[in-house]
Amino acid sequence: MDTVIKNGTIVTATDTFRGDISIKDGKIQTIAVNIDPGNAKVIDAEGRLVLPGAIDAHTHLAMPFGGTVSSDDYEAGTRAAACGGVTTVFDFALQTKGEGIIETAQRRNKICEPQACVDYAFHVAITDLTPKVLEEFQTAVDYGIPSFKVFMVYKKEGLMVDDGVLCKILKKSKETGALISVHAENPDLIDLRTEQFLKEGKTSAWYHYLSRPEFVEAEADKRAIHWAKSLNAPLYIVHLANKEGMEEVKKARDEGYEIYAETCPQYLHFTSDVYKREDGRNFVCSPPMKGQESQDALWEGIKTGDIATIATDHCPFQSYEKDWGKDDFTKIPNGCMGIENMYPYMLSEANKGKISFNKVVELCSSNPAKIFGCAPAKGTIVPGSDADIVIYDPNKDFVVSKDNMHSDVDHTIWEGTELKGYPVMTLSRGRVVFKDGEFLGEPGWGKMLKRRRK
Ligand code: URP
Ligand code: ZN
Ligand code: ZN
Repeated sequence: MDTVIKNGTIVTATDTFRGDISIKDGKIQTIAVNIDPGNAKVIDAEGRLVLPGAIDAHTHLAMPFGGTVSSDDYEAGTRAAACGGVTTVFDFALQTKGEGIIETAQRRNKICEPQACVDYAFHVAITDLTPKVLEEFQTAVDYGIPSFKVFMVYKKEGLMVDDGVLCKILKKSKETGALISVHAENPDLIDLRTEQFLKEGKTSAWYHYLSRPEFVEAEADKRAIHWAKSLNAPLYIVHLANKEGMEEVKKARDEGYEIYAETCPQYLHFTSDVYKREDGRNFVCSPPMKGQESQDALWEGIKTGDIATIATDHCPFQSYEKDWGKDDFTKIPNGCMGIENMYPYMLSEANKGKISFNKVVELCSSNPAKIFGCAPAKGTIVPGSDADIVIYDPNKDFVVSKDNMHSDVDHTIWEGTELKGYPVMTLSRGRVVFKDGEFLGEPGWGKMLKRRRK
């Protein structure tokens, strides 16, 4: 063994117990009541929780979008991840016209590989479904990329697929064992409402929300679920943010369909009221934050198990870029930061008694690992799994500020948020990459995961 974590309280999705963990060559070797460390390095976790590293299954790093590129590249994004207890990052690799699936992932991997500070994987976003791409699904699944994404919006940006394409993709995913994620909002309604607001001179960030309110998202959730049910294909809805959609997910799951819903901390913490703030444009993301009823429904979905995962949709833009939309909400690049805030925020909610710590591990680590095919190496603490571990001090109070974050962005929507408890150490495959507020990792350490869903 090379390292022993002693005296901590180990928390997985299913268990909480006192124990020591020995680590050898980046993997968990033994878990026992009392391990004699011999010459191994000792990490004392007395009074702390020892958790599996989080998996952020939804990020957009260095993504060309909204007339610019999201400000965290692979180095900054995975550095911030490490500092927030995230040890595996999923990025969306956007297919360009005519490009193959593996080709898309490899193109992005050339940029990501030398920069990544923690392990990572790609979901490939299909934007141009050629017969060649459809044929390539099986090869991609066998290669270790068994998850794809489609956008039901972003027509002008060239990312949207129509229902016919979505159905072809769902059918193929069923045949090949892949999982399709959807960004669900109704593009025609968004265009219609946006046009009307602009004509009326209603241009503030509040109208970003009103151009895509609850029912605009709900319609697309229902449509995507309808197609998935009809084709008996599994479906993963990203960044679910509305009550009606939540109800539809619950209904489909109760009927026995393999439907997964992801939500994000921003939808659990903020409501649409943020768009009335002077800095409302900083909160502009799609789908937008919704009303209190939707937020309550999402928390209820967490409690009933109908929310399967929490991820961040991390897609930060600088203030000057957000300012492009000061007088016209359509010019605000859509996206917010969160990769460093997800695990601390959810753990803080657990520490305050809203849900259990086990539930947080399930949502932020073990479920994404299982759903996206990287369990049991990731997402739990068992002998043989990767030593991706977070040590969490439940007594450390923390106030989020841009000055104590590790992204390459000049503000945070989480500014001033008070957290009860905070991660004090992150290990990535046994290596300490974050300790007491300081990043200790290095670019190039992270490895791309080859995944297998079933
Ligand atoms: O506003 C957002 N969410 N930006 C990133 C792209 C997406 O839709 O996920
Ligand atoms: Zn999206
Ligand atoms: Zn996204």
